[in-house]
Amino acid sequence: MKNKTIKDTLLNPSIGFDITIKGWVRTFRSNRFIALNDGSTIKNIQCVIDLNQWDEKLLKRITTGACISVSGKLTESLGAGQSVELMVTELEILGDSNPEEFPIQPKKHSLEFLRENAHLRFRTNTFSAVFRVRHAVSFAIHKYFNDRGYFYLHAPIITGSDAEGAGEMFRVTTLNDIKPPLNDQGHVNYKEDFFGKETNLTVSGQLEAELAAMALSKVYTFGPTFRAENSNTSRHLAEFWMIEPEVAFNDLVANMDLAEDFLKYVIKHVMDNCADDLEFLENRIIDEEKNIKAELKQPFPLREKLKHVLDNSFERVSYTDAITILRNSKPNKKKKFDYLIDEWGVDLQSEHERYLVEKHFGKPVILYDYPADIKAFYMRQNDDNKTVAAMDILFPGIGEIVGGSQREERYDVLVSKMKAFNIPEDEMWWYLDTRKFGTCIHAGFGLGFERLVLFITGMTNVRDVIPFPRTPKNAEF
Ligand code: 4AD
Ligand code: MG
Repeated sequence: MKNKTIKDTLLNPSIGFDITIKGWVRTFRSNRFIALNDGSTIKNIQCVIDLNQWDEKLLKRITTGACISVSGKLTESLGAGQSVELMVTELEILGDSNPEEFPIQPKKHSLEFLRENAHLRFRTNTFSAVFRVRHAVSFAIHKYFNDRGYFYLHAPIITGSDAEGAGEMFRVTTLNDIKPPLNDQGHVNYKEDFFGKETNLTVSGQLEAELAAMALSKVYTFGPTFRAENSNTSRHLAEFWMIEPEVAFNDLVANMDLAEDFLKYVIKHVMDNCADDLEFLENRIIDEEKNIKAELKQPFPLREKLKHVLDNSFERVSYTDAITILRNSKPNKKKKFDYLIDEWGVDLQSEHERYLVEKHFGKPVILYDYPADIKAFYMRQNDDNKTVAAMDILFPGIGEIVGGSQREERYDVLVSKMKAFNIPEDEMWWYLDTRKFGTCIHAGFGLGFERLVLFITGMTNVRDVIPFPRTPKNAEF
């Protein structure tokens, strides 16, 4: 007898044939109907039991969460709600699940409760849908770049440099934490550490990607990155995944074009390939928002929101113009922003980003040419000597989803920039070497993977789109 997934079975139902399906019981009704799910799809298959055929002891073990194998003939269903059902002739309990103890009951659980049970939340419709979509997003990203001649570069996870120069790093050390070796100044002597120097978990693979782009022309990284920022928000993780394309000969405009095309491609791929999951997630939000005020509801159903991104070009606005818009905005004049916009040069907070995207433009926005002082050292200095060729992409409901720039390719400018930012030149000799030997203009960006999955699934907290979130004071599982 053929082992089949529920997805295959429902897509190509071999009516009249015997099949075997293995999965986890969602519900067992009237001692007769098992809703079985194997994770291959959001849909369950209905398995019908002839209760006279089985002894009561076995039937008692068919509980929510139990793992079972069922075999029998696939027939067209007479009942509403499903097209086919499996008439069970063989049934084996592979793994019992004590209903008194199994935390995931067939009822609505809060997302917070499920976060505490992240090891079992895959068993729910919501999380199985989210993680199937997460997979599809990841696959689409690789496909996009592969089909366009990019090479996937594995940047190191342990690094000796701070790529963003923001000092938000997790130290990696094997030194004895009670009595570490000290140097002459009485500080911990990292020369005696595993790598013979201070090392950290990477905050970004960009610098390494730049090195590779200066030979392979088009590369991208896709890996975990780590930030020890104490941000307890629904958009920040201490461990998140980032996609960082880096392209030789691209300027800032080409960089924006790439990012926009790439984001649209990935969203379209998920719409084309995850229709059932998106439909489920869309209805989940509608249900979730049933009892909240209209102004707090999502403005569009999920799939319409995604389509809106595909159908519109992203608004490209310079930082300077954005400041003018914000300065003259209602919330600024009425002092509704927590941080009022007064002078050119201030960093934008997420309240400002969301105002621009959600209220002013009503679609994704690319902000570019930021003040040099609020951006990283590697961004290319513009001719005005005030701004750099940076770009951030802002998405509705999310805020910043992409951060990127054209890179400073001129050796002298880069060196003086590093001096100004207190970036130790001797530690970055390898980065500077690319500017010494065959330098060229190049550009790239970083996409926060979880923020994109958050947008596509319509979930509201990044902790719910990564299997096991790492956030301040939380590294369970
Ligand atoms: O803007 P960021 O810090 O840019 C960089 O790291 C550059 N090196 C990228 C590049 O040019 N190659 O981070 C890029 C994106 C952000 O726009 C955001 O989407 C995401 O990474 N991100 C986070 N996502 C979740 N949790 C965090 N703590 C994040 N920090 C940044
Ligand atoms: Mg950024």
